[in-house]
Amino acid sequence: MSAELRSLHASQSQLGADGQLLHFLTVEGLHKQKLLDILNSARQFAVSDPKVKKQHASLLDSHTVVNLFFEDSTRTRTTFEIAGKRLGASVINLNTARLSTKKGETVLDTVRTLEAMDTDIFVVRDSASGTAHLIARHVPAHVHIINAGDGRHAHPTQAMLDMFTIRESKGDFSQLRFAIVGDILHSRVARSQIAALQILGAREIRVIAPATLLPTEIERLGVTAHTDMDEGLTDVDVVMMLRLQLERMEGQLIPSSQEYFRCYGLNQDRLNRAAPDAVVMHPGPMNRGLEIASDVADSERSLILSQVKNGIAVRMAIMAELVGMRPKGSS
Ligand code: CP
Repeated sequence: MSAELRSLHASQSQLGADGQLLHFLTVEGLHKQKLLDILNSARQFAVSDPKVKKQHASLLDSHTVVNLFFEDSTRTRTTFEIAGKRLGASVINLNTARLSTKKGETVLDTVRTLEAMDTDIFVVRDSASGTAHLIARHVPAHVHIINAGDGRHAHPTQAMLDMFTIRESKGDFSQLRFAIVGDILHSRVARSQIAALQILGAREIRVIAPATLLPTEIERLGVTAHTDMDEGLTDVDVVMMLRLQLERMEGQLIPSSQEYFRCYGLNQDRLNRAAPDAVVMHPGPMNRGLEIASDVADSERSLILSQVKNGIAVRMAIMAELVGMRPKGSS
């Protein structure tokens, strides 16, 4: 990780003086209890009882949420929209292709303009690292910023929904070995997953990738690095696959798609190296036959669609936490 990104973490304050969450920009620097509070709230928001859901529908009923996505998204944008609506908020999805930033307006002026319309929460995705942090530094105290993915830097709500999915499926993190597999170099998801797993006390975190897709000094993040997938998968409890981010690659970092799948694609034979009850995850969008074989992606051991569904409850929990409205029974 670059010095620039380390300083981004260090300089950013997403917590108020008494530890309340003002913005949700990155997992780094948050205490274990804060992550557990979010996971416990998400458990309540995942309840399907219509009476309980009705109670949740008033928690943000006077609030406006703006989804400000400057980069494509299916899962994150849609689940934030559903989450906001389930909490009773007005949710606006901006078509950034038609925003006035195209006419030269700065992102900060766009945000100030939307703030003037009484927006309470901005959900921000951008291809540049640091955009959500920049906006958070310029909004008044009553406005909250959620980082929905910034460049290669962080995707904290994805990491939290992954932690929720793991906790629901496997329980105590301190008993579990994890392997994060694929394009670690370009992955904001991997960075946020590693931070969250460490805070929650994972037994062991391995990263598996060709040397060209491993950041230098990755071990400084507290993980062990493997370039041999069979070795790296041995006895792990959770296999977390990543997308090959071809659009972010400069130069030829893999020999070919076929060769990548041969060495780093997750197929049934490889999965047999992991613990017998190991589960498989992928944040999506996934490339079948490149990172993961279809029969594995669609198998009973795959939690991929559970991750998508859990994104709603976890994003409800994060928005509710920001405005100080935890659901009943979450503590
Ligand atoms: N996992 C994820 O961020 O997916 P989207 O790009 O579809 O939001």
